[in-house]
Amino acid sequence: MATKKELRIGLIGTGLMGRTHSNGYNQVSHFFPELGHTPVLKAVCSRNQENVQKFAEQWGYESTETDWRAIVARDDIDAIDICTPNDTHAEIAIAAAEAGKMILCEKPLARTLAEAQRMVDAVEKAGVQNTVWYNYRRVPAVTLAKQIVDSGKLGKIFHYRANFLQDWTISADVPQGGTGTWRMDVEAAGSGVTGDLLAHCIDTAMWLNGSITDVSALTETFVKQRMHQLTGKVQPVGIDDACLFHCRFGNGSLGLFEATRYARGHKALYTLEINGEHASIRWDLHDMNRLEYFDHDDESIVRGWRSILVTDSDQPYMKRWWIPGTSIGYEHTFTHQVADFLKSLDTGEPCAPTFQDALETQKVCEAVLESATSRSWKETGVAVNIGEVTQSALS
Ligand SMILES: NC(=O)c1ccc[n+]([C@@H]2O[C@H](COP(=O)([O-])OP(=O)(O)OC[C@H]3O[C@@H](n4cnc5c(N)ncnc54)[C@H](O)[C@@H]3O)[C@@H](O)[C@H]2O)c1
Repeated sequence: MATKKELRIGLIGTGLMGRTHSNGYNQVSHFFPELGHTPVLKAVCSRNQENVQKFAEQWGYESTETDWRAIVARDDIDAIDICTPNDTHAEIAIAAAEAGKMILCEKPLARTLAEAQRMVDAVEKAGVQNTVWYNYRRVPAVTLAKQIVDSGKLGKIFHYRANFLQDWTISADVPQGGTGTWRMDVEAAGSGVTGDLLAHCIDTAMWLNGSITDVSALTETFVKQRMHQLTGKVQPVGIDDACLFHCRFGNGSLGLFEATRYARGHKALYTLEINGEHASIRWDLHDMNRLEYFDHDDESIVRGWRSILVTDSDQPYMKRWWIPGTSIGYEHTFTHQVADFLKSLDTGEPCAPTFQDALETQKVCEAVLESATSRSWKETGVAVNIGEVTQSALS
């Protein structure tokens, strides 16, 4: 067997995403054996030495650091993986690009459009490979949705609808800031559900249905003050707890989006639906291996919503896994992204979504927040040809 080239990873942040990415690096070569590159878990960084040591032993990292600058400065690291809260993304990514490292950055790319632009400028100047972990693109059923849309089966698209609903911040006792609740602190997160949840919906939407050109939004902060974990004081809450927006796409269709952390009973209900002239598709994260599909061209007596279990070997990514009829899960989306990143190193192609792609999502997020504040429609400034951006899914 030909020797694989090593991709020496330096991972920063050992929370939820640190675990999903580490799992992806550990799994990828078993399931995508033809790739010319293989990840090597060279170093992991988190601020507490005892915790980072435990993480390194659990996931198989060769060494640890407690300062991200040390990991960025190391000569034995090829790629920096940013799994830290949003306020650290720009500083780490820009330093990593200046050090000539490849970068895999968690979403949202940054807290603001200005920060995100600086990150794009840095990777472009350095010419380093980069990607952003908008992982829902790599759910096989969502990738299949992309193939169906691109095949033209839906015809002219009229509507795009997406929700991302949670309920974990309803209690006024949930604090803001610090470990575990940095998402509640506008300084650390940049925004609330807009950057955290809607950014995912927007990334998928523009991948499936092209650019979002104009938005009109409404946000609410239901609990106005919360205790800040770092200061111990009750302070105003600066994030959006809920955000609704409607929009126009460049292809003439209308979009409707909702995200909230106040939908009692919902933990992570991400759903999307597209209605076209000839057909519609619908997907739900809670039943993530299924794609629902309605085709008006079906014979009328059997016409109805089909429930497609996306586990067959000719469906995206699935021949890599088990046998038809057996499901895969959330963690596989990260393995798929690692595989596609490694593939991009073999081919020299970009690995979408790149920082530049994620900048377009950031433009929509910024326009949404500005629209809510100003109570007016906003143009997003998103490049009109974004729907043409392709992503090579390993099948
Ligand atoms: N792609 C997805 O579906 C998805 C899901 C969840 C989170 N995210 C994103 O991933 C990022 C991390 O989120 P999470 O849920 O893993 O958070 P988390 O709170 O679980 O973990 C954050 C980690 O970063 C570490 N950290 C914080 N500041 C640091 C610093 N200065 N130096 C080194 N380590 C530092 C913390 O100690 C912790 O280990 C965020 O940007 C978030 O938006 C993406």
